[in-house]
Amino acid sequence: MTEPRKLHIKSYGCQMNVYDAQRMVDTLAPEGFVETSRVDDADLVILNTCHIREKASEKVYSELGRLRVAKDAAALTGRQMNIVVAGCVAQAEGNEIIRRAPVVDVVVGPQSYHHLPQLLAQAKAGGRALETEFPILDKFGFLPPPKPAAIRARGISSFVTVQEGCDKFCTFCVVPYTRGSEVSRPVAKIIDDVKRLADNGVREITLIGQNVNGYHGDGPDGRPWALGTLLTRLAEIPGIVRLRYSTSHPRDVEDTLIEAHRDVPAVMPYVHLPVQSGSDRILGLMNRKHTAKDYLEVIERFRGARQDIAFTSDFIVGFPGESEQDFAATLALVTQIGYASAYSFKYSPRPGTPAADLRETVSATVMDERLVRLQQLIDNQQSAFNAAMIGSTVDVLFERAARNPGQIVGRTPWLQPAHVMASDAIIGQVLPVTMTSLERYSLLGNLTKPSLSTPSIAALPSVPSHTTGA
Ligand code: 5AD
Ligand code: SF4
Repeated sequence: MTEPRKLHIKSYGCQMNVYDAQRMVDTLAPEGFVETSRVDDADLVILNTCHIREKASEKVYSELGRLRVAKDAAALTGRQMNIVVAGCVAQAEGNEIIRRAPVVDVVVGPQSYHHLPQLLAQAKAGGRALETEFPILDKFGFLPPPKPAAIRARGISSFVTVQEGCDKFCTFCVVPYTRGSEVSRPVAKIIDDVKRLADNGVREITLIGQNVNGYHGDGPDGRPWALGTLLTRLAEIPGIVRLRYSTSHPRDVEDTLIEAHRDVPAVMPYVHLPVQSGSDRILGLMNRKHTAKDYLEVIERFRGARQDIAFTSDFIVGFPGESEQDFAATLALVTQIGYASAYSFKYSPRPGTPAADLRETVSATVMDERLVRLQQLIDNQQSAFNAAMIGSTVDVLFERAARNPGQIVGRTPWLQPAHVMASDAIIGQVLPVTMTSLERYSLLGNLTKPSLSTPSIAALPSVPSHTTGA
């Protein structure tokens, strides 16, 4: 038997990249690759890059510098290490990477992961391979998914891509250029994926897409289905107890989605709805095509369907031309809404995007100072939101054994990690937990069913927080 080859994937960025990393592992498994957490003994290293963050490409080049050392060390022991750059930086800067980084064997864009085995064979044969074209799509306008048998369940919670690309063209964002225009997968294919995952023990599905609520895949009735209709149908699949979706755009919130929150208990009351800024002037410059008031109205529609819905968002501070007054409008919006959590970023110009040409830039000092103020406000809201759970009884979907022996960790409907002392027989179940304390972002509690819980969970060490967003 030949030794399995070892594959190390380092992923940056959004949930789409987390999912894509799984897709690459699945594509390479039939080639004899198994995952390793160590770069040093990998035969293949994939950098799954994200173009959204500041200095994204510089970070890739410095990571490649470190990998060159590892590759040289492997070569000294007679072992070949191949290096692949994947993801959105690969898509956007493929030729440049090949030119600047001789250590790289393959550059592959997100639309071409199913070709990885061929591209690697090309590299093995002594060449270097680059594939970043937007390919010819199937008759539904979608990429060939991994072979059915290759979709393996990984635990209790799984992502399923339902939509890719974005047509919104926010002026700061590279996604429409790196991921292409919006395409939705047909309903039947998504149902097949979810059924297979449920059969393999998955209980929670997060539907992902760059503009997931722009979903409009072909339905079995020959008509396009909206996201709310899809969620309602997926909730009927035996074994699926929780449904989530990310990332949504405020302009694409249809009534069917609001109704799904109202009528379908499996649809979790936790919505990631980026707004980016609270200033109408800045929203205009960002080409968001909505005002702060429009956004508040969308929030109210959700809240009208279900009182306990909590929101998360993304914010950009220091967009070109952002005045103190504009920034104050962002703080006011955050204060008015009260978020469970949010991501905030300093604006960074992405080459090729319209905002990169705007001249009225905000100084680094002002940006830093605004970021701190915004993050403080959001942190306070997050702490208050988490602390409000103490003393209440909340349903938790248990996912796995925690690091501390005897502890099992799961998540509340609002994605807060919750720890109890219990047997691992509860993994995969949703059980009510009475929350007793909070350690950083993690809740500790007792199962309300006494037979399953053990008496004391006092003074347990904290567990690192988890974030799911980009
Ligand atoms: N600068 C800063 N933040 C950005 N984001 C996207 N592009 C940029 C940029 N050029 C942020 C947005 C988006 C999140 C995924 O990343 O807030 O919602
Ligand atoms: Fe980028 Fe989101 Fe705007 Fe699309 S909606 S262009 S993904 S920020």
